[in-house]
Amino acid sequence: MTKNYREKTKLVHLGRDPEDYYGIMNPPIVRASTIQYKDLETFETKKGQKFTYGNVGHPLSRHFEDAMAELEGGYRCVSSSTGLAPITASLMAFLKAGDHLLMCDSIYPPTRFACERLLKRFGVEVEYYDPLIGAGIKDLIKDNTAVIYLESPGSATFEVQDVPAIVREAKAKDIITIMDNTWAGGLLYRPIEHGVNISVCAATKYIGGHADVNLGYAVADNEVNYKKLKRAHVDMGMCPGSEELFLALRGLRTMKMRMEQSAESALKIAQWLQGRDEVQKVYYVALPDHPGQALWKRDFSGANGVLSFLLKETDKEKIRGFIEALELFPIGSSWGGYMSLLQPQTEMGYRKTVPWKEEGMLLRLQVGLEDVDDLLEDLDQAFQVFNNG
Ligand SMILES: Cc1ncc(COP(=O)(O)O)c(C=O)c1O
Repeated sequence: MTKNYREKTKLVHLGRDPEDYYGIMNPPIVRASTIQYKDLETFETKKGQKFTYGNVGHPLSRHFEDAMAELEGGYRCVSSSTGLAPITASLMAFLKAGDHLLMCDSIYPPTRFACERLLKRFGVEVEYYDPLIGAGIKDLIKDNTAVIYLESPGSATFEVQDVPAIVREAKAKDIITIMDNTWAGGLLYRPIEHGVNISVCAATKYIGGHADVNLGYAVADNEVNYKKLKRAHVDMGMCPGSEELFLALRGLRTMKMRMEQSAESALKIAQWLQGRDEVQKVYYVALPDHPGQALWKRDFSGANGVLSFLLKETDKEKIRGFIEALELFPIGSSWGGYMSLLQPQTEMGYRKTVPWKEEGMLLRLQVGLEDVDDLLEDLDQAFQVFNNG
């Protein structure tokens, strides 16, 4: 594009090149593993060859990656077959045996499992830090600290990190910072503008938006870091298929509207839950009493539709009664799609720096695009079942 357009315009226009496809507006699904070369010299030098092999990149991955690099304000992007893949790719790209990794304690649980099961086996020292540590990260940095990993707001409890403060300390010691930007959908926050080196995101959530795609990407801040990232990504064979990329590009066009609608409904639901006698605590960044409000308002341009809450009741059978009485919030492990879901958070016990002490079951709601009054009525009738049961 010739001009630095506003976000909504970018979402509509990025990641397309009609001239490459007879003027067709949306890049069509192009299936490509093998790519032919015109002669030996081209094969050897790759000169003038746009693509070399499917795993290294193909037309749809190029369109999606160009769009995300532009939206995130980075140098270049790699796309991958799940949201977890760019996380492991970026960790593997910047860590080696003997390195020390500072890992945020409120991360998406499978990121923790990858640290525990994969990185530790390859000799990486993993230390978890309190997500609210801010500039205090300085005291945890060692001579062998190679990477500081952030995720903000944190998974399930939405701790908002002071990213610029952490990045300042990292830069002072030439430490790479990687941030999971999935909560923001790559849109509500721009980690690279705040000095982060690698921004990773599960496009599975708001970008795909329709609960039918696993996809991820990582954007690097400069050429050197991009090359390291790309090498690890190719070495681990993480390239996504064209159909997923096609669906993600389609999702991009409406993502902002979907996120805004979900956030509006989520705030209403969060406030309504706060007024219920059965509820002990509600976790949602846009609530005025959320502890991370000030940082969130300083750094983010909006909210998404994900919130959690704790009931006062701790008896599992009674909680089961509430969950199973809901009609519009089926149990499901994801978020960012068009439909509302509930996910019981069963993996809170892993937290190390700020151990999870609550007895009850934390319930996470993904608020979709239904009429919010129907969602509230559904919650209300489930509370009636719960109170009578
Ligand atoms: C914060 C966060 N990052 C990454 C992922 C990984 O995405 P995927 O399930 O496509 O691997 C998820 C999925 O729930 C997530 O919530």
